[in-house]
Amino acid sequence: MRTDREKEFMLKAIDALQRELIVVSPGFEILAANQYSIDSRGTDMIGKSCHNVFSNSSVPCADCPGKPDALCENPAIKKTIKDKLTVDRVSCYPIFSGEKIDAFVMMDFDLPRLGKLEEEVQRSNAFLRNLILSSVDGVIAADKTGRILMFNEAAAEILGYNLEEALSTLNIRAIYPGDGAREVMRKLRSEHFGGPGKLKTYHADLLGQNGKIVPISLNAAIVYEGDKEVATIGFFHDLREELKIKKELEKTQVQLLQAEKMASLGKLAAGVAHQLNNPLGGITLFTKLVIEEHDLPESALRDLQRILKDAERCRDTVKELLEFTRQTKHMMRPHDVNRALTRTLFLLENQTLFQNITIEKDLAEGLPMLTADIQQMNHLFMNIILNAAQAMEGKGSLFLKTHLLPGGEFIGIEISDTGPGIPEDVLAHIFEPFFTTKDEGKGTGLGLSLVYGIVENHGGRISAKSRVGKGTRFTIELPISGPTEKGAENGQPTG
Ligand SMILES: Nc1ncnc2c1ncn2[C@@H]1O[C@H](COP(=O)(O)OP(=O)(O)OP(=O)(O)O)[C@@H](O)[C@H]1O
Ligand SMILES: [Mg+2]
Repeated sequence: MRTDREKEFMLKAIDALQRELIVVSPGFEILAANQYSIDSRGTDMIGKSCHNVFSNSSVPCADCPGKPDALCENPAIKKTIKDKLTVDRVSCYPIFSGEKIDAFVMMDFDLPRLGKLEEEVQRSNAFLRNLILSSVDGVIAADKTGRILMFNEAAAEILGYNLEEALSTLNIRAIYPGDGAREVMRKLRSEHFGGPGKLKTYHADLLGQNGKIVPISLNAAIVYEGDKEVATIGFFHDLREELKIKKELEKTQVQLLQAEKMASLGKLAAGVAHQLNNPLGGITLFTKLVIEEHDLPESALRDLQRILKDAERCRDTVKELLEFTRQTKHMMRPHDVNRALTRTLFLLENQTLFQNITIEKDLAEGLPMLTADIQQMNHLFMNIILNAAQAMEGKGSLFLKTHLLPGGEFIGIEISDTGPGIPEDVLAHIFEPFFTTKDEGKGTGLGLSLVYGIVENHGGRISAKSRVGKGTRFTIELPISGPTEKGAENGQPTG
């Protein structure tokens, strides 16, 4: 129980309050009021009904917080929003006598200051929200169940979602392929990827609308309330353009490396060929002179004919070699594909590696001329045929086939071997630059990436099919009329 002194101060405190405070009966009669109310409304307010005094009305207000059902909330609050800013509130607390409500106390809150604060908070919230929503990076926040809380326009654009649809129906797990969302959570909770609760510059794949995979760089964080995880937020940017440029650069680098390699090889071969040309001319000329000017026995004549034949073969080889290494700059001219293939074979078939390889040819007759850069064609065939011979380790069969594809616009070239074949996981990478299964120093892994580049330059297509233990077949399709915009887009390698 309070002492009289306590009661006295309590009353004084209530009177000192610069807010209106009144006690109202359940029948809306004002039973008591503090000094501030009396000063504002006059002493005669006591005994009157509150709706009369405060709202100048003869009936209780519709939104009166003193109504029994409103009083179930503790406190009951009446809100009035003026000009969207000032919020007037009347708080109402029941005074119980046992189970029964004896009266209720109403306090007004003149809240212009709180209204201002609220306005400031609202404004700063709106600013932060705007900041996030207009970010050029994608921003996605989700609660613990994966429900999307925030999804900005950049995120919708990167992933191809409609903003409303994403906000209303999407779950965070659906934007990661497979178990990606769980993996991100695991990394977020670990301390090794930017500290606990953080994930920095993590490269991941997201699943866009229509199932397209979008590579991204992600910075993410867990949002805590105290110690409790309540949400996650991720900021990410699209890596597609960056990766495309990187790939282009890699391709250019490969082409440069290969061009350099071929150029120095070409120079060397051309030098040797020229060196050989003169003595070969001499051998041919003098052998012919000996045959013509001397009356030789049959056996000596046969030997000399043999010398002449071999010298001529050497001369042909030198000629092909010069043709093969001629440094022409991307000259697109009509060429005979069969002849280009035969020339490459001619240079290779007498090498030791090919001694025990049977070569079968099925070259279509009357093929239209193909608009191509002959030097690049030579490199293309050389790389594929060499790979085949190396894979067969010099023993097996090589099949070469050319034909005109239905429609008459493309020439098809097939080069197959009976080598060990390529396992599926290797097959997916063979066109990548620097991919090789050969021992160090034996292969650079540039051969097929160059082949792919050449086919692409010519607007064609290339694919490889292989069965382990059976062999491999490369299929190339080149447009007769040379590269066109449309053709170049077709140059996708397939496994
Ligand atoms: N006919 C084939 N049979 C089996 N494997 C092959 C065949 N052709 C290519 N490969 C595989 O593809 C890989 C890549 O070939 P690529 O020609 O690009 O490089 P490389 O031959 O290893 O090296 P480089 O050609 O630069 O000397 C090879 O290492 C090999 O594993
Ligand atoms: Mg190779």
